[in-house]
Amino acid sequence: MTMKVLIACEYSGTVRDAFIAQGHDVISCDLLPTDKPGPHYQGDVRDILHNGFDLMIAHPPCTHLAVSGARWFKEKQKEQAEALDFVRLLLNAPIEKIALENPISIISSRIRKPDQIIQPWQFGHGETKATCLWLKNLPCLVPTDIVEGREAKVHRMPPSADRWKLRSTTYKGIAQAMAEQWGQAK
Ligand SMILES: C[S@@+](CC[C@H](N)C(=O)[O-])C[C@H]1O[C@@H](n2cnc3c(N)ncnc32)[C@H](O)[C@@H]1O
Repeated sequence: MTMKVLIACEYSGTVRDAFIAQGHDVISCDLLPTDKPGPHYQGDVRDILHNGFDLMIAHPPCTHLAVSGARWFKEKQKEQAEALDFVRLLLNAPIEKIALENPISIISSRIRKPDQIIQPWQFGHGETKATCLWLKNLPCLVPTDIVEGREAKVHRMPPSADRWKLRSTTYKGIAQAMAEQWGQAK
């Protein structure tokens, strides 16, 4: 069955294009323009949350939430509170099926524990990067291709203008599993 799908906070088009390949009616949304041509709303996701989507996959910013930035937590309580409010708003959106993705973060202690923690090496990429999923009316993802490599590659990327983009772009194997498994979910 074709679903109306929103990929929130995605500029890369990765998850969007994986769902399009499965025949769904999909739009990505980000404050930034899309890196790849395709259906995209450039603006605040809050503008379109009520537009009748069946499924939303959201990748909200983790800058003020990720536990890897814990040493700065004291100085950024306001930013943190705002980031948590944004996560709550997305999790409570009037959409039947929701998946929200973030690294190991204070969402776990301040909102609730994730339903699943996945790794790129379970989906064909020989790397480690714990990715938490908070799910509503969706099953946990089943690993599609468990590979040997266990390199923490993203941490060793040299500084560059788009390092943050390279680090935060969703892995293709994970995007494909989301589209194949959640695109069919009853
Ligand atoms: C960690 S990145 C996610 C990148 C994503 N995994 C991808 O492959 O494109 C978070 C994104 O959220 C976007 N963002 C932040 N606030 C937003 C809002 N209110 N509405 C839409 N996008 C927002 C940022 O511009 C940023 O690109």
